[in-house]
Amino acid sequence: MKLWAGRFQKETDTLVNDFNSSIAFDARLYRQDIQGSIAHATMLGEQGIIEPHEAEKIVDGLKAILADIEAGQVEFSPENEDIHMNIEALLTQRIGDTGKRLHTARSRNDQVAVDTRLYVKGEIPRITGLVLDLETVLLKKARENLHTVMPGYTHLQRAQPTTFAHYMMAYANMLRRDVTRLEDCLKRLDECPLGAGALATSTYPVDRFRTAQLLGFRKPTDNSMDSVSDRDYAIELLSALSILMMHLSRFSEEIILWCSWEFKFVELDDAYSTGSSIMPQKKNPDVAELVRGKTGRVYGSLMTLLTVMKALPLAYNKDMQEDKEAIFDAIDTVELCVPVFAAMVDTLTVKGKNMQRAAAGGFINATDCADYLVKKGMPFREAYMIVGRLVNMCIKSGDTLDTLTLRDYRAISDLFDSDVYDALQLSTCVNGRKVYGGPAEESVRKQIESIEEFVASRRPEPET
Ligand code: ARG
Repeated sequence: MKLWAGRFQKETDTLVNDFNSSIAFDARLYRQDIQGSIAHATMLGEQGIIEPHEAEKIVDGLKAILADIEAGQVEFSPENEDIHMNIEALLTQRIGDTGKRLHTARSRNDQVAVDTRLYVKGEIPRITGLVLDLETVLLKKARENLHTVMPGYTHLQRAQPTTFAHYMMAYANMLRRDVTRLEDCLKRLDECPLGAGALATSTYPVDRFRTAQLLGFRKPTDNSMDSVSDRDYAIELLSALSILMMHLSRFSEEIILWCSWEFKFVELDDAYSTGSSIMPQKKNPDVAELVRGKTGRVYGSLMTLLTVMKALPLAYNKDMQEDKEAIFDAIDTVELCVPVFAAMVDTLTVKGKNMQRAAAGGFINATDCADYLVKKGMPFREAYMIVGRLVNMCIKSGDTLDTLTLRDYRAISDLFDSDVYDALQLSTCVNGRKVYGGPAEESVRKQIESIEEFVASRRPEPET
């Protein structure tokens, strides 16, 4: 029999029952639901809304249910629709009529709001922890490759020389923003909606500050209608996760390119690549491709939630039950992708010689050649034009800027001297770029230090 049978003349159709039921996916909120109920019952007892001994009985009953669920001894019933009604039903089954007092001054609307927030609150530090692990891998790769010169690209055309370390630190910076975005989201969601009731609180002397405190929230939410209808925090989380995945998808794309025979800048460890069922020569970057692909799933969850919430009137609407699968799937996907991605990067081999060769072949020192003339007094635009002509000459003769003779150079400008060859060396080009943020060793070391400090600030050394 349904809780609301008193109001109804008929049983719920089984089709509707199945359709309405969310227990198949919200069962994972059992811990948060019990935690929320324990706080609520405790507060009800303290405020004299129920008798203290009743509160105690409820709390004990809930704790026992939690232990049994964790021991795998509880089966939820779709008849009871969702996790909230399932647990309440179990409680009443077990402790009798006192169980029926738990829902005083509460609604499933504030209950689901508090459960989901608690869940997200617990997952965010887990996710940032995984991203920090990935940061640690990038730091290691950067330290090992401060002198590994490679071409930097614009339009996927060889552009200017950089190093693998500089490249790794580019991603490390994106990931730092991802971590702080998630931290911001956590700060904003750290308010407790419990006590908002269905939408307008209640006439009982409920102490919302107390339940907020018991559940470890900074404070209660300020408006009860907003409390039960707000899913901003989840949208914010999914957008932060989407941006994180966007970064991983870009990184994945580069790894996929770098693994190709056309580049061969890196080689994935055998343990992090796969073969083909038909082509014996293949070694495929499946992990990177799947991370790139799963990015679509996370964006999908963000779109789901934005679209579910669009134009919903205040306050709670059943549409909002659709939030959970999107939230869970996005979190699960990110928690699946980040560690495997980190391990893949950790174990890949950097092919420094191939990077160097590609860097030498693409006129990526052309800007440096122009800068050489500028240092000898020529205006940049003029120098740019001259080097353009030199490159054109090289392309016709199959030369590079390093193989042109001094005579070739001087035929175009007598500002050229034998020191031009030194100026065009890739290591000179990289290490000349000492500007803050640049690829020179000393600049990259600063970037490494900055990320190291960031990681350390999030992971204080355990006290000894
Ligand atoms: N299962 C519901 C959800 O996830 C819980 C809230 C139900 N509230 C209601 N008024 N029907 O949103």
